[in-house]
Amino acid sequence: MRIMFTGGSGKAGRHVIPYLLRHGHRVLNVDRVPLEVEGVDNRIADITDAGQMFDVMSSYAGFDELEPGTGVPRFDAVVHFAAVPRILMTSDNECFRVNTLGTYNVIDAALKLGIRKIVFASSETTYGVCFADGERKPEYLPVDEDHPTVPEDSYAMSKVVNEATARSFQRRSGADIYGLRINNVVEPHEYAQNFPAYIADPALRRRNFFAYIDARDLGQMVDRCLHVDGLGYEVFNVSNDGHSVDRTTAELIGEFYAGVPLTRDMGERETFFANAKAKAMLGFAPRHDWRDDLLAG
Ligand SMILES: NC(=O)c1ccc[n+]([C@@H]2O[C@H](COP(=O)([O-])OP(=O)(O)OC[C@H]3O[C@@H](n4cnc5c(N)ncnc54)[C@H](O)[C@@H]3O)[C@@H](O)[C@H]2O)c1
Repeated sequence: MRIMFTGGSGKAGRHVIPYLLRHGHRVLNVDRVPLEVEGVDNRIADITDAGQMFDVMSSYAGFDELEPGTGVPRFDAVVHFAAVPRILMTSDNECFRVNTLGTYNVIDAALKLGIRKIVFASSETTYGVCFADGERKPEYLPVDEDHPTVPEDSYAMSKVVNEATARSFQRRSGADIYGLRINNVVEPHEYAQNFPAYIADPALRRRNFFAYIDARDLGQMVDRCLHVDGLGYEVFNVSNDGHSVDRTTAELIGEFYAGVPLTRDMGERETFFANAKAKAMLGFAPRHDWRDDLLAG
């Protein structure tokens, strides 16, 4: 597929885009800085500028596309990752402005240009635990996509707004728009760098529900979204199968989640950030267990 990808130069995109290239897609990365990876076309543009989004989305990806002489091809899909990716980077209102206006512009341009598949990055933070003031426990475990999304911070609020924006655009257009509630992204080099500390002190992972998503498995998730059509508007938790700490589910519940209702029995080391929906509806099958990478690294 011919894909326009926003924010591909960042932490997640620099792994997701190579995954998509390896699986046969052509990718135009639209970001404020280029991604220096062979085979990627880059365009510098700002998602908060609607004109620039309309322009890049109706543009040639590279010089080779001039050759057929048949005009500009249409993108088959848009993957939208560009964002201010957390609180405490910009002012709170700037984070909210960039993320909400940017997402509106990207989806609006895509649909008006006839692009019928949009995948966008939402976040685990929508559940309100990650950036809460003090400790907030989930309302139940495991946390699935039906869990309330009432966060307190501007970043997570922007992601909740983006989900509402996407849902409304989907209703009007009938296109496929899939939102990814991505858990904490881990790059391959971060296993050796960070996981020894997580093993020593699991509390470091409390705000992430003790979960994680390998950046390469996030690539697989995006690829699955590109392949599966006809779902309309859906949101999916994106996480690996196990916890990011060396504790069992029962031990973590005993230490951190006393009094939180369990909606079903859970596996011995099953993630609290339920990924069953992505598995059932998209065929997502994460492959990168942190133990393997830590031993290999
Ligand atoms: N990293 C995580 O753990 C995590 C978890 C959940 C959700 N997410 C979401 O996934 C997406 C990617 O996250 P990331 O960690 O790669 O973030 P990142 O900050 O590393 O990358 C974001 C990219 O977006 C670009 N960008 C920012 N503002 C832009 C603008 N106005 N116009 C064009 N490009 C702009 C940046 O230059 C950067 O390359 C984001 O939407 C983020 O909110 C990330």
